[in-house]
Amino acid sequence: MPPAGWCLLWLGLVLASVCASLESAAPSNSTTAPLNVLLIIVDDLRPSLGCYGDKLLRSPNIDQLASHSLLFQNAFAQQAVCAPSRVSFLTGRRPDTTRLYDFNSYWRVHAGNFSTIPQYFKENGYVTMSVGKVFHPGISSNYSDDSPYSWSIPPYHPSSEKYENTKTCRGPDGELHANLLCPVDVADVPEGTLPDKQSTEQAIRLLEKTKTSAHPFFLAVGYHKPHIPFRYPKEFQKLYPLENITLAPDPQVPAGLPPVAYNPWMDIRQREDVQALNLSVPYGPIPVDFQRKIRQSYFASISYLDTQVGHLLSALDDLQLANSTIIAFVSDHGWALGEHGEWAKYSNFDVTTRVPLMFYVPGRTAPLPEAGEKLFPYIDPFDSVLERMEPGRQVMDLVELLSLSPTLVGLAGLHVPPRCPVPSFHVELCREGQSLVKHFRFQDLEDDPSLREESTCLPELPL
Ligand SMILES: *[C@@H]1O[C@H](CO)[C@@H](O)[C@H](O)[C@H]1NC(C)=O
Ligand SMILES: *[C@@H]1O[C@H](CO)[C@@H](O)[C@H](O)[C@H]1NC(C)=O
Ligand SMILES: *[C@@H]1O[C@H](CO)[C@@H](O)[C@H](O)[C@H]1NC(C)=O
Ligand SMILES: *[C@@H]1O[C@H](CO)[C@@H](O)[C@H](O)[C@H]1NC(C)=O
Ligand SMILES: *[C@@H]1O[C@H](CO)[C@@H](O)[C@H](O)[C@H]1NC(C)=O
Ligand SMILES: *[C@@H]1O[C@H](CO)[C@@H](O)[C@H](O)[C@H]1NC(C)=O
Repeated sequence: MPPAGWCLLWLGLVLASVCASLESAAPSNSTTAPLNVLLIIVDDLRPSLGCYGDKLLRSPNIDQLASHSLLFQNAFAQQAVCAPSRVSFLTGRRPDTTRLYDFNSYWRVHAGNFSTIPQYFKENGYVTMSVGKVFHPGISSNYSDDSPYSWSIPPYHPSSEKYENTKTCRGPDGELHANLLCPVDVADVPEGTLPDKQSTEQAIRLLEKTKTSAHPFFLAVGYHKPHIPFRYPKEFQKLYPLENITLAPDPQVPAGLPPVAYNPWMDIRQREDVQALNLSVPYGPIPVDFQRKIRQSYFASISYLDTQVGHLLSALDDLQLANSTIIAFVSDHGWALGEHGEWAKYSNFDVTTRVPLMFYVPGRTAPLPEAGEKLFPYIDPFDSVLERMEPGRQVMDLVELLSLSPTLVGLAGLHVPPRCPVPSFHVELCREGQSLVKHFRFQDLEDDPSLREESTCLPELPL
């Protein structure tokens, strides 16, 4: 081999090893204690949030999290259906590998015995805990949220979840119905509470317990709203007067759209209030005043969700855990609010596949809080003057939820599993997604010793 060839080979090996070590570059050095992880997973939330530039939405607590985070503007789910999306990002494998495109199988039995994000943290000394909807319930997680493999303690589900689809929505006739639009008086509903409130309370109880634990924690909190039915405390409706609600800018089913690309939104047609509209199948349309009401209730559900996130993060702060906890905020996929004539997830349009994705990393995406300083004080969305908060840092690159797994692992300083061979059904631990850790190396932090080699590191090759 000529000298130039040797040099290139040598250079290649050096770069490969530098890149491999940076892949798992933790923001802090190895002498510091491991970082905890709080993973917040929201159900059916598209990026209708103040921090994603939505002027109508009141989401001050999520915006505040974004202001201390690195926010990905163009993040996409692998599939706009809950179970396949969750199984995909929690295992770090594509639906083609988990063999799950619907709700009807458990990957460990039907595809391969793939490890999960919480399982990997658990095997690396973390106490892993699940609250609310993290894995999709049912067969897709073996009716156990993948216990015992993923979790150190039994997953928690709010007791009031069982009323979500029952007749608890008071209609104009004064009777209770199983409606799509379901603003409620919380004092009036069974158990006097709602699932996401209970999940927040349980998550805070678990955070309090970690104070006495010698182990770092991985806490996943899965919120149910804004998934249908829109069952939320009715005061949130006031934030969105109907006259302020705009309609989808592109409400027509695109001409020539193949039927396979269209979903006739049967989920909402089953609700009593939608049934009463006698809509034609499959295209509708929905009367314009009811379209406004659906959008109003979706937005109100988001503001209600925002208050739960606010209470949770404020508690994390009060427990002085904001300096030692990575916070990832993500949704399983979006939802169409009339765009392309759709009122559902399921399609492959941007409104259903694009998701919010942001990471707060203490000392990295925001300065470490001083003793006693609060990064996440609770903000009341009903405050008449709300300061609009911009994201701390943003990435415009196209990224996918498949990256959640290697990114969280890398940010926590754990070894990032190798890329999967093809096929990889027989490999329990590998990753199909790219780690996003390189996006956390900021120019203005370049004197950080863990970043020094950045300029010599080639971008990762696509799969
Ligand atoms: C590691 O972190 C400690 C505490 O923050 C600091 O004092 C030390 O200088 C760091 N070491 C290196 C090699 O960066
Ligand atoms: C699947 O993985 C789990 C967790 O590593 C392990 O306990 C179990 O034995 C594995 N099952 C099979 C069939 O390999
Ligand atoms: C799924 O759950 C059943 C019932 O608890 C259990 O017997 C079975 O071993 C589980 N499957 C796997 C792959 O762990
Ligand atoms: C509704 O729109 C009006 C006119 O633009 C505006 O003054 C008002 O603040 C809006 N209300 C809310 C709750 O956003
Ligand atoms: C829907 O159909 C029922 C039964 O034909 C009728 O009583 C009702 O008035 C219709 N509702 C609307 C909104 O057209
Ligand atoms: C976080 O802050 C608290 C209170 O100021 C302090 O006791 C603790 O040591 C800090 N933890 C880390 C990892 O810096």
